[in-house]
Amino acid sequence: MQQIQSLIRAVPDFPKPGVVFRDITPLLADAGGFARCIDALAEPWQGSGVQAVCGIESRGFIFGAALAQKLHAGFVPLRKPNKLPPPVVSVDYQLEYGVDQLQARNDALRPGERTLIVDDVLATGGTLAAARALVEQLGARLVGASVVIELAALQGRSRWPDGTPLHGLLRY
Ligand code: PRP
Ligand code: ADE
Repeated sequence: MQQIQSLIRAVPDFPKPGVVFRDITPLLADAGGFARCIDALAEPWQGSGVQAVCGIESRGFIFGAALAQKLHAGFVPLRKPNKLPPPVVSVDYQLEYGVDQLQARNDALRPGERTLIVDDVLATGGTLAAARALVEQLGARLVGASVVIELAALQGRSRWPDGTPLHGLLRY
């Protein structure tokens, strides 16, 4: 885990003053580190019958697609607005300033399909909560969620109801 953590670059004051941006691009560029990261993300879900992995645009696509392959599951992109052709389902969510939206194809998941949500970072938790609402709107069965990085000080986990597993690989 320490080797994975050493491949994440801390960038102070990006994209705005006071924010420490956790840059995953050195991790992605390191073949061994990226492979170990995907192995570690997959580990809690082996044998849990995950059928679909939902990755959140855009950095969640990178980890989600690799994890889907590892778990022999399909991959479903949860996209920012106006990227997918209709018909779509949508969930609005709150950002620090204003609102954003996630969308999925309206038949992206089958009713009851065992589904895992994946993203790179859990910060305030709004994005992951919106992804969860989208999966539930589609009638799938949410098995849990995984993130590579959990920014513990922002308490995003408090927006994730009890009972459904949420795994964070690295905590800051
Ligand atoms: C970042 C990150 C998560 C989200 C976490 O996405 O990739 O999806 O913020 O923040 P939250 O927990 O406060 O909701 P961003 O919107 O920056 O998109 P990107 O992956 O396209 O850079
Ligand atoms: N998404 C939200 N907060 C972030 C941070 N501090 N670093 C990287 N991605 C983020």
